[in-house]
Amino acid sequence: MLTRSLRSFVVVCSLALTLAEAQPMPSSYLEYDVDRLPPSVHRARRDSLMTLLGERSVVILAAGPVRVRNHDVDYQYRQDDNFWYLTGFPEPNAVLVLVPRGIQVADPADSTRRITVREVLFVEPRNPQRERWEGRRYGPEGAMSLRGFAYALSHDRMGAVLARVLMEGVEAVYCPTMRDEADEARAEVLRPVESMLERVRTRFERRDPTPTIQRMRAVKSSEEVALLRKATTISAVAHAEAMKSVQPGMREYELQAIYEYVYRRMGAEYAGYPCIVGAGENAVVLHYSTNRREIRSGDLVLADCGAEYRGYSSDITRTYPANGRFSRPQRAIYDIVLAANQAAIAAIKPGVAWRDVTAISDRTLEAGLVRIGLVKQTDGREFRKFVWHGLGHAVGLNVHDVGVDTLRANVVFTVEPGIYIAEDMEGIPPEYRSIGVRIEDVVLVTSGGNEVLSKGAPNEPAAIEALMRRSGIGNVPVE
Ligand code: GLY
Ligand code: MN
Repeated sequence: MLTRSLRSFVVVCSLALTLAEAQPMPSSYLEYDVDRLPPSVHRARRDSLMTLLGERSVVILAAGPVRVRNHDVDYQYRQDDNFWYLTGFPEPNAVLVLVPRGIQVADPADSTRRITVREVLFVEPRNPQRERWEGRRYGPEGAMSLRGFAYALSHDRMGAVLARVLMEGVEAVYCPTMRDEADEARAEVLRPVESMLERVRTRFERRDPTPTIQRMRAVKSSEEVALLRKATTISAVAHAEAMKSVQPGMREYELQAIYEYVYRRMGAEYAGYPCIVGAGENAVVLHYSTNRREIRSGDLVLADCGAEYRGYSSDITRTYPANGRFSRPQRAIYDIVLAANQAAIAAIKPGVAWRDVTAISDRTLEAGLVRIGLVKQTDGREFRKFVWHGLGHAVGLNVHDVGVDTLRANVVFTVEPGIYIAEDMEGIPPEYRSIGVRIEDVVLVTSGGNEVLSKGAPNEPAAIEALMRRSGIGNVPVE
């Protein structure tokens, strides 16, 4: 791989050449983007946000930052959830400005005419030399012709346009403040915005658009449900393949590779979060992602793995025995968790408070732990020694997405009760040590109740054991 200093050298040398040479971005660039939501969907969301915030507001929102992995290597770029929701624009260093009452600009098709637009996307200009290293850029023209923005300009025009947008009649500027140090790169893009806002700050109130955008994201449209369904189907197939493939002697990361292979084979480019594959005592680490231990016969394997499909993340957990057969104590814990998962799902329908669904699961877990003698009191407290997290969460553009307190149709939640018994817990019979069980399903709330989207990954012990008698894609030797 070439170094960044060499990249910088090439970039500096080429700066003078480039802009004039920039060509419109070829639309063939979009061909790989199967199933991506059309620009009209994002535009409708921008329109809705403007309606919600009112005529006398302005919205300024920056793309997610590029994050450095080490030295001159960056992490793979992932757009910010809210920015993606409103724009579908995949590049960093972009700024969206919404002006509900409109602003006059030169018509991009005929510069002698003026048109009124309610949105401007500021983007990096085309730059053939940079694109040789970093890939195609849309540039302003591509943002308009291929991504459906009414108006787009390159960065260097942002100051001048904002000065006009903020001149008069604005009551509130909705622009998130950067709190996070990791947001340095985004803060950099917003520097001209911040200095402009500072200069004219007495004229309007500054507010955060995040809560309004998040409320919009909580209830999923039919297009979003379709993408979540696909992400979940892919994740369920990955779990089934992993169950068939796992063998004592494998490393946890080998099992992780099966999940990630299935994601990509089925069209999901990314995992929604790092795969959690914990065998034996690692199953009790909630967000374990080291994934390096050898999987041994007698271990339970807890795999919490979900694919991201076109930005939408699934989240499924299955727990299965490395050797294909649950032991008696493993099965005792498993059956309690499965009962809690099923009781919670049975209660899910519109109008029910999520708190009440959680209470049903907790009562089931507690009663089961009392039945097998690990808990003595049904006081709603002692069982917490083994139950360490809430029942679940919404999924969407973020694996831990924006939720609701009371369920309604077209919200999508996970249901993931778990019991965790660490190897060094005191007073625990030895046969129960190092057992961690979590069973997580993805549930779409429908007008009549719910639909479990993750059914393709079995969670009944007999079905898991039957599936595990088969071999999977991970059992094909690699020479
Ligand atoms: N999938 C990890 C979690 O829900 O926290
Ligand atoms: Mn989860």
